Formats: sequence, structure tokens, C-alpha cells
Amino acid sequence: MDSPTSTRYHRDVRAFIPAAAEVPGYLTMPAAHAAIWELAKAHLAVRNNDSHTLYAYGLARALVERVEGADTDVVLPAILLHDTGWSTVPDDQILDAIAPGGGRPDLVRHHELEGARIATQILTTLGHPKPVIDEVVAIIDGHDSRREAISLNDACVKDADKLWRVTPHGLTIVQQWFGLDHDEALRICSARVQPYLLTDAGRAMGLALAAVASIDQVPQRAGLV
Ligand SMILES: [Fe+2]
Ligand SMILES: [Fe+2]
Repeated sequence: MDSPTSTRYHRDVRAFIPAAAEVPGYLTMPAAHAAIWELAKAHLAVRNNDSHTLYAYGLARALVERVEGADTDVVLPAILLHDTGWSTVPDDQILDAIAPGGGRPDLVRHHELEGARIATQILTTLGHPKPVIDEVVAIIDGHDSRREAISLNDACVKDADKLWRVTPHGLTIVQQWFGLDHDEALRICSARVQPYLLTDAGRAMGLALAAVASIDQVPQRAGLV
């Protein structure tokens, strides 16, 4: 984290900095979610799924604030655990599985089923209620292969998962995975995300992320601080 090194405007504003809890959208991870993360992270340490999961979790936290009726007790464990099944797919096959233009639907299905199994184990270990576990598992089992959402909670998980691709981190990772430049990654990701978003709030977030990424690369922006 950068620290300010000068008071360029000769004005100390620190007295006006609000407490974190008063800042809209400011996130930390509460203990219940950190406990899930601790058990999930070993299953996510393949192909950037760990950092993908953290950003998707942040997006899900923002999304459930704006989707009336969404249940955080279901959505947030589901997003933290949705991709744990990739740990059971050989590392060198994961990019084949998710590449645009075909991919490997059998491997996508495999990671959903294995993720459902791992999520059941982790949430049972942590003592989550059976109805919550059943709903989380139903969401994970189909989170990529099933285009339609089975519930509002599922729609939130699906949207948060996809929106990651248009974040600065998602675009950087997609560039590295497929050898694309920023503009190519932005076009392929936004075009593949926006039509599939299921909530109004998710669509607004997707457009905002794509707008910021677009301005990053307009020629008028070049050379400016
Ligand atoms: Fe997935
Ligand atoms: Fe994902």
C-alpha cells in the first residue's frame, strides 16, 4: 500500500477519514468467511483460482447489497467454494477446459461435481446448517455448465464469478493465459460476460468495469498521471 510522502496541497485531511465500517463498499473478511477460505485455499491454488475467488467474493459482497432477497449465508460460502474442484483437474488441462471457442465441457462438469463434494466436506466440518449446505452445493453443481440460474442466490454467484473477468485483475490474468494485449482481453471478456449477467446490479457493475478498462486505453489517457 502506498503511503503519501508529501502534503502537496498543504492540507492535512486525515481528521476527515471515516472509520472503515462507515465506508460504503469497504470490505474486510469476517471470521466465518475467513474460516471457509482457510479450508478452501489449498483447493484453489491452481491457475489463479485463489486470487480469482477473492475478487469474486468481493464482487459478490457488493452485489448482494444491491439484490433484494439474496441470502449472504448462501451466496458468500458458495462463491468462496465454487471453483475448489479445479484442484482435481490436471494443471495443464485447465486452460483447455475454459478456452474460448470450445473448451472441454467434460472437465468443466468434472470441476463442478468435485467442487460440490469439497464444499460439502468443508461446510460440514465448519458446522453450517444442512439446508444451507444443500443450497450451496446445488449452486456449485452447475455454476458454469448451467446458463440459467436456479435461484436469486445462484444468479448472484454466477454474476460475481463472471464479473471478475472485467476487473483489472481478471483482465491481466486473461492476457497472461491467452497471450492477449489489454484491448483484446477487454473485448473478449466484456463481450462474453455482459450478455450472460442475470441481475440488473451485475449488469451495471459489468458496464462500469468495462468503462474504466476502456478509458485506461484510450489515446487521450496516454501519458497522463
Ligand atoms: Fe468454475
Ligand atoms: Fe470462478
